[in-house]
Amino acid sequence: MEFKDKVAIISGAASGMGLLSAQMLAGSGAKVVMTDVNLELVSAAANEICKKGGDAIGVQVDVRDYSQVKNAANIALEKYGSIDILLNYAGGAETRMLQCAKPFHEQPVEVIDWGLDVNQKGTVYFCHAVMGTMIKQKSGVIITLGSVSGMEGSGGAVCYSTAKSGMLGLTKSLALAGAPYNVRACCVSPGPVLTRPGMANMKTRLGRAAEPREVVDFILYLCSDKAAFITGSNHMIDGGRLCGGMD
Ligand SMILES: NC(=O)c1ccc[n+]([C@@H]2O[C@H](COP(=O)([O-])OP(=O)(O)OC[C@H]3O[C@@H](n4cnc5c(N)ncnc54)[C@H](O)[C@@H]3O)[C@@H](O)[C@H]2O)c1
Repeated sequence: MEFKDKVAIISGAASGMGLLSAQMLAGSGAKVVMTDVNLELVSAAANEICKKGGDAIGVQVDVRDYSQVKNAANIALEKYGSIDILLNYAGGAETRMLQCAKPFHEQPVEVIDWGLDVNQKGTVYFCHAVMGTMIKQKSGVIITLGSVSGMEGSGGAVCYSTAKSGMLGLTKSLALAGAPYNVRACCVSPGPVLTRPGMANMKTRLGRAAEPREVVDFILYLCSDKAAFITGSNHMIDGGRLCGGMD
């Protein structure tokens, strides 16, 4: 029960690593506010957690809408009384999410906006919405999600790459602003993770993609008191892909 009575807010909690994090945090005693643009999925996932004895609530949040983001932070405070952990998973490559196979210079502006607004502005919004509470509490942990794409670039998903490298500046800035108040911020930058089968195609030095649990375990370590001296850092979990020489 490592996270007993801690309150976590998770964006993009309806699937993939966000969902797994919610399940694992709830299983370790946390109270979890699960947010996602997909209300049906996130509510069903929260109900499942509650049926197993956990404490979770599903809230519809499109991270591009600040009033929805702030509403989720308010719900966490009203229902549970604090905000101890924020995990920013909402995101994805705009070319995949909007099924746009065009090269960057031919992509419609809606695709550009989605890539930047969801991956970058949405994360900034959520960090902004919880930071005041964490500062007042004099404790809190914020995790942002980068990507190898943010480090090596992406010829197709240009805005995804832009946003993910932006997580490094955001995380360091939050760490600087939060440090006097014991608020930590770390970025985790995965290589391919098997939240969907297609990720198995991306090469790594270890010759495979990560299981979601291999990334989430590390993220939960960063959220725990064991990581109390870690802040402002970016953590690659990429099977050695960025050692160089990969296609
Ligand atoms: N899977 C990978 O290989 C990989 C690699 C590097 C980085 N990442 C990053 O990790 C994070 C999670 O990845 P995943 O594969 O678990 O994701 P996923 O695709 O399984 O889940 C993303 C969730 O975000 C939600 N979402 C989409 N748009 C939203 C919006 N506007 N507002 C709120 N929620 C929205 C989706 O409904 C979905 O539930 C993402 O930020 C992703 O970019 C993933």
